[in-house]
Amino acid sequence: MGKPKVLVTSKLPSASLDVLFEKFDVDYRDESSPMPHAELLERVKSAEGIVCQLTSTIGRDVMDAGQKLKVVANVAVGYNNVDVAYAKQRGIMVTNTPDVLTDATADLTMGLMLGIMRRITEGDRLIRRGGWTGFTFSFMLGTDPRGKQLGILGLRRIGQAVARRAVAFGMNIAYLPGPSMLKGGPISAARRDFDGFSATPMGFDELLATSDVVSLHVPLTDQTRHMINQRALARMKASSYLINVARGPVVDEEALVWALKEGVISGAALDVFENEPTVHPELLTLDNVVLAPHIGSATRETRVAMASLAVKNCMSVLSGEPPVTPVPEFMIKAAERV
Ligand code: DGY
Repeated sequence: MGKPKVLVTSKLPSASLDVLFEKFDVDYRDESSPMPHAELLERVKSAEGIVCQLTSTIGRDVMDAGQKLKVVANVAVGYNNVDVAYAKQRGIMVTNTPDVLTDATADLTMGLMLGIMRRITEGDRLIRRGGWTGFTFSFMLGTDPRGKQLGILGLRRIGQAVARRAVAFGMNIAYLPGPSMLKGGPISAARRDFDGFSATPMGFDELLATSDVVSLHVPLTDQTRHMINQRALARMKASSYLINVARGPVVDEEALVWALKEGVISGAALDVFENEPTVHPELLTLDNVVLAPHIGSATRETRVAMASLAVKNCMSVLSGEPPVTPVPEFMIKAAERV
């Protein structure tokens, strides 16, 4: 019997692939760009495993084309690109890469937060266009994080790592206890201790209305799509900032442009966008926005760790063992309900 075939849809760090090449028949696409969908439909036909990235949409069509598929190993913590409910129906295991990217993503979140609060990229642009005329006392004043409230939507691994960092900057943490609270009013639960910080639970509206910075760390689901819309933005303080390192469609970009232009909020820092790599043209013209090209987990160390974990997940399933990090059952159940 030949070795099981694994399709790797885009280039990954070679250090993470050696072990896969040793044990499996690897169909490796040595290009960084996303695999064209028609090519994916063709190459998946003989594959028992796929190691793919968030730019590959693994829907019913791909899973139906891949009749031998046993595992989809996504090289990302997010898996909104995979139809997990259909995969379960077909008995295909879906895995992701949590934990290994938590610190890198939390670090970037703090970078974006300080970037917008202290106007770093705005100042950079000013200098480059020759607009700096010298030091003056009240020039380009920003906002201190110290003493401000950071409202975290999605206080799981990355949200908690952000909270630990923010506490070191003197911030107070508020959080939304769960997606079910999304439409809820105020709640009166006690402040809760987490590993390295404590945080005050709040309902969605209260968190938006009282936070100086709102940071998004929820997965993209039908419940969280456009969670930050015009109604939500209108509840935020005029002096507040929005940070998104989660998924672009969690924010209604059109509504965000309105809020930034009208002074409904003070600024935003975004690592993800609704239609990547296209960015809303008006966001490009606004000074009160920091833009990053989806680089939350983009450090050399983290990318090797993510790829290695995905490869391990794929190999485990194809060897008849449980994967290290399967997509949690409760998230699959939530997708099944939609
Ligand atoms: C993820 O892992 O979901 C990030 O968006 C990409 O690393």
